[in-house]
Amino acid sequence: MKSLTPPRPITADDAILWEEGALLLLDQRLLPAEERFIRCDTAADTAEAITAMVVRGAPAIGITAAYGVVLAARDARRRLGERWKEGMGEPMALLAGARPTAVNLGWALARMERRIAELPEEADPEPPLLAEAQRVHDEDRAANRAMGAFGAGLIERATAVITHCNAGALATGGYGTALGVIRSAHARGLIEKVYADETRPWLQGARLTAWELVRDGIPVELMVEGAAAARMAAGGIGWVIVGSDRIAANGDVANKIGTYGLALAARAHGVRFMVAAPTSTIDMNCPDGGAIPIEARAADEVLCCAGGRVAAEGAGAWNPVFDVTPAHLVDAIVTEKGVIEAPDAEKVAAHMNA
Ligand code: MRU
Repeated sequence: MKSLTPPRPITADDAILWEEGALLLLDQRLLPAEERFIRCDTAADTAEAITAMVVRGAPAIGITAAYGVVLAARDARRRLGERWKEGMGEPMALLAGARPTAVNLGWALARMERRIAELPEEADPEPPLLAEAQRVHDEDRAANRAMGAFGAGLIERATAVITHCNAGALATGGYGTALGVIRSAHARGLIEKVYADETRPWLQGARLTAWELVRDGIPVELMVEGAAAARMAAGGIGWVIVGSDRIAANGDVANKIGTYGLALAARAHGVRFMVAAPTSTIDMNCPDGGAIPIEARAADEVLCCAGGRVAAEGAGAWNPVFDVTPAHLVDAIVTEKGVIEAPDAEKVAAHMNA
C-alpha cells in the first residue's frame, strides 16, 4: 500500500475515492494531524487497509470491500482470462475476513457476488463491477441523507446530545449515520452542542468526530467515556445518538465498545437513545445480540498510547472493540426507510419487509 498526498482538496465526504483505476482511502489513522491517502491496487491491499483501520466504520468498510472486489476481478481477468471467476474465491475470502463485526462487509460482498453471477465470462468484468461498487457507495450516501431527516424528526426541541465513536462521513459513504442525524438536526436549529466521547483506545471521537464537527461549525466538546453518566446527570442532554456495526433481528445493537454503558446510563437518566444505521446493517440471520461476532483486537491497543507503553509492565488487557446494547434500552432505530420505535423482533421484521 502506497501513501499519497490528497489528489485534490478534500472534505470528510471524500474518504473513499476511485481515481485513475485505483482505490484511494483517506488514512484515518493519521487524522487530524495529516491528510494522506493510501492507494490500494489489489484486493489484498484493500483487506489489509480494512484490518489496519486505514478505513473504519461499518458502511465505509462495506463500500471499500465492494471496490476491493473490482480490483480482485481485474487481477483475476489478467491472470486467467475468460476463466476469471475461478480466481475470485481467494480474494473474496480475504476481504470477508478483514474484520468480523460490521455486517456491511458481508452484505456488500454478497451484493457484488450476485452481480458477478450475472456477468458473462467473456466480457471484461471491471466496468460493470465498478458501476455496482459505485452504486453501493451512492446508495449509502442517499440512505444517510434520508436517515438524517428521519432522525432529526424525532428531536422535539433544541438540546445537547452525546455521541460515541465516529459515525460520520468518514465511517460511511458520506454525511454519516449518527452524525447525519446530528447534521440534519443542527440545520434545523435543534442541536445546542455535541458531547463526543473520545472513544478509547482508537480515539475515533477525539480524532475523527471532532474533526468532522469542527469543520462543519457544529459545537463539539470532547469527554472521556467515563464522564458521560455525570454529563447526563448534570442535565440538558435530550438524546444519545450512535451508529451501529450490526443490528440483530430482535433489535439488539452492536456498536463500539462503551455504547452499552452509555445506553444504561441514558435509561437511568431519562435520556433517549437513538441508533442510526442503514438497513444494510440489519442482519436478519442473526436472531439476537448473542449471535453477533465481537472483534477482539490486540492488547497493545489498550496497553499503549500514541506509540508508547503506558500500562505497568506485566499487565494484560481485555480488548473487545464492540459491545451489544439490548433492544429494550433502545428508544429508536432509524434507517433510510424510517423509524422503528422501541424495537423488537416483530417491528424489525415488518420494517425490513416494508
Ligand atoms: O472500530 P470502528 O472504528 O470500525 O468502529 C466503528 C463504530 O463502532 C461505528 O460507531 C459504527 O461503525 C457505526 S458507523 C456509521
